[in-house]
Formats: sequence, structure tokens, C-alpha cells
Amino acid sequence: MLKQFKRKVELLRETIRQHDILYYVKDSPSISDRDYDMLMRKLQDLEVKFPELICRESPTQRVGGKVSEQFNALVHNTPMLSLDNTYNADELREFHGRVIKGLGNSAPKEVEYFVELKFDGLAVALTYENGVFVQGATRGNGKEGEDITANLKTIKSIPLTIPINKKKIDFLEVRGEVFMPHDSFYELNKARKKNNETLFANPRNAAAGSLRLLDPKVTASRKLDIFVYSTGLGSSSVKTHSEAQDMLKKLGFKINANHYICGKFEEIFSYIEKWKVEKNNLKYDVDGLVIKVNSLSFQKKLGATTKFPRWAISYKYEAEKAETKVENIFCQVGRTGAITPVALLTPVFISGSTVSRVTLHNEGEIRRKDIRIGDYIIIEKSGEIIPRVVEVIRSSNAKRGPSFKMPTQCPECAGNLLRPESEAVLRCVNYGCPAQLKERLLHFASRNAMDIDHLGPAIVEQLIDSGLVNNFSDLYKLDHFSLSKLERMADKSARNLVGAIQKSKSSGLSRLLHGLGVRHIGQRAGVILARHFHSMSNLQNAKLEDLQFVMEIGDTVAKSLKAFFSLPSNNEEIACLKKLGVEMEVKGEIVGDAFLGKQFVLTGSLASLTRDEAKKKISALGGRVTSNISKKTNYVVVGADPGSKADKARKIGIEIISEEVFKKMLG
Ligand code: IVH
Repeated sequence: MLKQFKRKVELLRETIRQHDILYYVKDSPSISDRDYDMLMRKLQDLEVKFPELICRESPTQRVGGKVSEQFNALVHNTPMLSLDNTYNADELREFHGRVIKGLGNSAPKEVEYFVELKFDGLAVALTYENGVFVQGATRGNGKEGEDITANLKTIKSIPLTIPINKKKIDFLEVRGEVFMPHDSFYELNKARKKNNETLFANPRNAAAGSLRLLDPKVTASRKLDIFVYSTGLGSSSVKTHSEAQDMLKKLGFKINANHYICGKFEEIFSYIEKWKVEKNNLKYDVDGLVIKVNSLSFQKKLGATTKFPRWAISYKYEAEKAETKVENIFCQVGRTGAITPVALLTPVFISGSTVSRVTLHNEGEIRRKDIRIGDYIIIEKSGEIIPRVVEVIRSSNAKRGPSFKMPTQCPECAGNLLRPESEAVLRCVNYGCPAQLKERLLHFASRNAMDIDHLGPAIVEQLIDSGLVNNFSDLYKLDHFSLSKLERMADKSARNLVGAIQKSKSSGLSRLLHGLGVRHIGQRAGVILARHFHSMSNLQNAKLEDLQFVMEIGDTVAKSLKAFFSLPSNNEEIACLKKLGVEMEVKGEIVGDAFLGKQFVLTGSLASLTRDEAKKKISALGGRVTSNISKKTNYVVVGADPGSKADKARKIGIEIISEEVFKKMLG
């Protein structure tokens, strides 16, 4: 009976996989959304009836549970290199010269190049074991990335299974670029604006932010996409990059159709010219072209430096520039009191959006460039960067305003300003400054800190202006009666906000530490400190040496924290938060530091716990689990039927431990 349903479930999954490819990869669905939903519903119903048939590669499992505090680090099998890049034709010719020279005697008369688009997103590596997507990682520093499998699974154009001969290819890694299409980007920013959330500067930032969310449900709503551009797959039948792309396409990966196989090097330039214009008509950001030697054996021969492959280069298009006028210069106050001068501009359309302000960074920068009201400036913007001033075109003296002078008092609270020694930035020293308070509260409420929904800039401003909130702890005193007195605050919204604030009380120590906004204490330092000290009171009582002693906590962080706790007002605020029920202890997931700084690799199946449970336990004690063995690996835990990893560990002399020993270590 079960066998019969198993078959049915498998058939349904295969049908859905085919439709996913047609819809998300080929952009040519063959059934209606309704019929697709029916297929999904059928599969879900069967999986509810027979939960033993659920597996991670089922299309019903694309959106999984939250990641607890941070992503696990993992070491890449082969480093994820970057690309050398150029903006001009001569350097491209030099690259071609290096290729010919590198190939030496084997250089053909004409080297064939595969020219493709350079997508402006984030590089990821996808690992398939026995045809099943098991792991997805960010590039990170090239050697070590982060495990974002759960988030990548939500991208529908990433196949969860691929039809390969498992006996021949039991392991396959493909790499590609995750991006956010323009439509999704505009839709997302529109919704964020409505909710008073900060807007993403460009699709790349939005994609990066979405991939690093701890809740895959939210990532799933962000409508990310991928183009796959390389694979470690090299079989005797695949001799060129072009054939490898075809092979990936056949396996159901999304390959970008725009490419050009260039038989004569000089042909590249007309393709470059063509895409300089055409890239602006695409539905996603492209910031250049990538030129790759097509032959895989030539690629192998040319090899790579520590940073770049010698067989590829990117030709980047210059960032778009525009001229506009400085209408005004004013100063903004940030979360830490930093005063930033900003130029208000005559709005100008550039690289797909209208720019009406540009940061002037600090006083030194204004003086160096001598930017004044009335000046014309050239700003540039590319997908990757926020607008910046590249040149000042002076107006005639008659039309120029006077030299800009930084304020001597805070523009928001009239408090004193101070420039700390060795810093370029002027700061408002009034901790109660409303502008700083606003930014601090927004940071406190942000997703990676206390994660308070519905607490956006407009509400925070109202809360400060009405005098209801002067510090973090005031948030926890709010009830829906006091809130509903605010303008435009409906009873339902007030209740939602109070609910979200109350919920945040149990966020745990690491998020609270991050949220308090102590200088130099970000998300990661919050986790490390929480792991080590377990409670706020332990941290408050810690001596400077205790803090400095913690691995990965530098001197700057230690001193900053000590300075924070030396102010009675900060300790009073913490006491207040505690009294109002904000949890000051480490959350259940982080229980000790026995494995702090240690890296584990798990191989084979463990009898007494699942791989996920083992990972959680290691992480709870401060350790990391990586998928591959490297010199940094400290222990390899070996279960039943281990793979080749155990042999590799033995070869390079890494300590191998059995499940029994591992359990003892876990205590
Ligand atoms: S191939 C060995 N192809 O550009 C590096 N990269 O600047 C192989 N990128 O990290 C990369 N489009 O994230 C390649 N068609 C394309 C690409 C591409 C975008 C990104 C990739 C890489 C970065 C390097």
C-alpha cells in the first residue's frame, strides 16, 4: 500500500519539478497557476497522510524553519575566486596577450572566447549529492562562506533535484549569481516605504539582505532569482564552457541565454558596444560582461592566481554619471551622534532611479572639494554603489554660496558637538538627542536585533515627539491605550505594535546586546559575548581582562563595552528593561563555550542524533560545522558508512572521533 503511494508521490514530485523548470527557468508555463496549485495540494495531502514519505528535496519543503542566531560558516571545496576586471579595450587586449602567452605552444591561431553577461548580484555555490540539493553557500571571503541552504531552497529556479546518473556523478557543485529582478525590487521597496521601513539602495543590496535573513519565509517572499554560470563538472563529454552551460541547462538550471562565442578576439568589442546599450533594457542589473576562454583544457592550463582565474576577465561598464546642482547643504545626525553633511540636489535621473541627495561624508571632504550651494557637480551611480560626488564644476563666484561651515551645535537638539581625536567625524554628545534616539530605537527594533515588527521610522518619530518614548525601556511601557492617542494610529495597529514589542522581550541576550547599539558591538560580537558570558549581569561584572580574553573579541570591543557599563545611566536602563521583563539571559541554543573556535566535520550517519541535532549541539557550545575538511578542521565526527572524508582526515592528520567520544564531549 505504502509502496503504491510512494510511487504516486514520486510521480507528483517529478511533474512539479518539470513545471517548475517550465515556469521559473524557461519562462514558458504549460499549465495554469490553479492547476499547478492543485498538484502541490495533492502532494501536500499525501505527505500529511504519509509523513514518512517527506524528504528535504520535496517541493513542499522549500520554505523551512528559522535559522537560530547566525548562519554556520563553511569552507568551500575549492575557493570561490573573484574576477580580474577592466574598463578599457587596451587592458582587454593585454588579457588576450597573457592568455596566448600562458598557452605557449598549445595556443591555437585564434583562442575561442565565451562572452556572457556579468550579473550584479551575489555569488553562491550550490552542492548536489546524489542528485539532491544539500547545501548552498555564500562566497564569503572566497575561502569560507556561510551556509544559507534554507534561504536558497526558497528560490524556485534552483532545482531541488537534478536528473543525473547518481552512480557516475554523486557530487556536483554549481556556482551562480543570485539577484533580485527589477520588478521584485520595486515592489519590495514600495511595501517597505508603506511600512516606514528603510529602503534598499539597489537590487544587489536587496538580494544580499534577503539572502541573509534568518527566516526563510521572509526570503521566500522576496522573489529572488539565479543565473548559473559555472560547474565543477568536467566529464570527457564536456570539453568547453559552452557545453558545460548546455549540460547545466539540460539538468534544469537557469542559464542566461545571452552569450556570444567569439572566434576572433577583436569581435568582442562590437559585442561590448551592443550590450552597453542593451543592458539597460534587461529586467535585472548587469554591470559588465565576462570574457571566458571557452576550452576547459585551456582553462586548466592557464590556472589561477590566488585571487583570479587567468582564463577570465570582466569588462565593466563605467558607472553612469550625471550633472546636477547643489540646492542646499544640511547636516544629518546618525545613531551614534555622527554629524553627516548631505547635499540636496536638483533631482536627476541616473541608473534607473532619481537622485536628490548625496552624502558629502564629513567636513574634511567638503573642504577638500570646496563644495558650495549653487555649485554644479557630477555624481555617479552604479548598481553597486550609492551616489557619490566625482567632480565639482564651480559656478561663477556671484552664484556660489559661502564656504560651508559645519554647525557648532547639533542641528537637531542644539547639544554640544565634539570631534573625537583621530576621527574625521563630528559627533553630538547629547545621548538624549531626539535624532540619535530615533536611529537608536530603529536599530533596537531592527530584524537582526530585537526584531520588532511595525516599529518603523514614522511611528518612532511620533513616539519621540509625543514624549511617550525617551529610551528603549519606555517601549515596554506602551499599551494600546497610550498608543491609540497618536495621530493616525488605529486600535488594531496599536494592538499589533504592543504585541510585537512584548514578543521581543524573549529575543535573548545576543540580540539585546546588538540592539543596545554599543559602539563596535554588532550581531556577531553579540553572539560571541552571549555565548561566553551567558547573562547580562556576568557581562556587567566582567573585568576588562575577562572581555579581552574572549576569543574573537578584540580590544576595541572590550574597551567599548567596559566604557558602556561604566556609565550609571546605561546600567539603570538595563535594570529597567529587566524589571519590565526583557530577558537578560542567553537563549537556549547557546549553552556553553566548550567548542568555541573549533571546527567540526560530520560524516556518515550517527545513531543517536540526526545531523541537524548534532549541528545544533556543536553550535550551542560555540563550535562550527563545515561541510568539507580543511586545515582549519579540528575534529571529524565519524558515524556509520562514512564517506571519503574520513580517509581524507586520516591522510592529513585531523583528529577523528567516534559518535561515543563525540557524545562524551557534548557532556
Ligand atoms: S564567473 C572564478 N560569470 O562576478 C570566478 N562570475 O567579480 C568565476 N559574476 O564573484 C566567476 N556574473 O559573483 C562569472 N557570468 C558570470 C558572472 C560572474 C557575475 C560575479 C561573481 C564573481 C564576481 C567577480
